[in-house]
Amino acid sequence: MFHITVHSQVSSVPVIGIVMGERGLISRILCAKFGGFLTFGTLESGVVSAPGQPTIKDLLDLYNFRSIGPDTKVFGIIGKPVGHSKSPLLYNQAFKSAGFNGVFLHLLVDDVASFLQTYSSTDFAGFSCTIPHKEAAVKCCDEVDPVAKSIGAVNCIIRRQSDAKLFGYNTDYVGAISAIEDGLRGSHNGSSAGASPLNGKLFVVIGAGGAGKALAYGAKEKGARVVIANRTYDRARELTETIGGEALSLADLENFHPEDGMVLANTTSIGMQPKIDETPIPKHALKHYSLVFDAVYTPKMTRLLREAEECGAIIVSGMEMFIGQAYGQYERFTGLPAPKELFRKIMSKY
Ligand SMILES: NC(=O)c1ccc[n+]([C@@H]2O[C@H](COP(=O)([O-])OP(=O)(O)OC[C@H]3O[C@@H](n4cnc5c(N)ncnc54)[C@H](OP(=O)(O)O)[C@@H]3O)[C@@H](O)[C@H]2O)c1
Repeated sequence: MFHITVHSQVSSVPVIGIVMGERGLISRILCAKFGGFLTFGTLESGVVSAPGQPTIKDLLDLYNFRSIGPDTKVFGIIGKPVGHSKSPLLYNQAFKSAGFNGVFLHLLVDDVASFLQTYSSTDFAGFSCTIPHKEAAVKCCDEVDPVAKSIGAVNCIIRRQSDAKLFGYNTDYVGAISAIEDGLRGSHNGSSAGASPLNGKLFVVIGAGGAGKALAYGAKEKGARVVIANRTYDRARELTETIGGEALSLADLENFHPEDGMVLANTTSIGMQPKIDETPIPKHALKHYSLVFDAVYTPKMTRLLREAEECGAIIVSGMEMFIGQAYGQYERFTGLPAPKELFRKIMSKY
């Protein structure tokens, strides 16, 4: 569709090129970049005359539609599902406040390799990567940062403007691990200056996907003893074969309590909107943990965190990880320092 609208400009034939549905949302926003004649916006959310129409408010306030032009660089979050992601909200406001000529989109993608091959021009300058594409994305990059390679998952892809090559990074592990360390330090009143408070702790990771690998790798780096519990036991075992530690099936986690004061990190999507009543571990088993972290950040207070707090554990929300991983991505996307205060202010509303 973008090829058609761009060529229509050469032949001076105005073309409205709109693709329906959630996958077509980018055609409705990027028509301003690729020469489409107009786009449609609805006055009210859900009151549409065709599937996938955004509201005028989102076009103007979320995507900064009036600022999009031929030179605007395109960024976006590749995922499935992806509509829940707050990344566009965060980056578009930050781009606007820094005067950076970019737009950040939700990109509902089925196959990350075929997506990256299709959108191969330097106009598509960078991507965030989320569920379930972080591991497949490693193979799609021309070069992968050594840490991301060890983790086996990429959450940030940059397209070099000189030759369109793709570079993969992982900013998840720093975001999550520093949030957990801050949580533990808070409980120690900052008395553990220097060494990581994770050193020597038993650190249980639920999940062995992209976020699970990042957390497990980061905890290991900080000197924790790592246990991986996953629905598919073989994936947990594969991960422990790489980084060391013990593998469990998710079903065995309920009765796993070799010691008290453990750290628990949920890195599955269990409990994420809309299934907010779900939780990966029964409440009674939470009493063995001193800190519980949940990578899920929609909602901010998951059932797991609520029950952990009721059991007396320190809780750390996925929102902290989200903000932390976004700092690194923003700096790679723009070459500018991340507006940390602005990020916190934007996310404090959610
Ligand atoms: N806060 C943040 O900044 C942040 C950053 C990254 C990710 N996240 C969140 O972390 C979650 C995982 O993301 P990801 O990229 O790591 O995904 P992923 O690579 O697809 O991995 C998903 C993991 O969750 C497990 N899983 C999925 N559904 C499950 C279910 N119903 N019951 C039991 N286990 C289930 C999978 O187990 P199997 O191996 O058995 O399939 C796998 O271990 C998502 O909710 C994402 O939003 C948050």
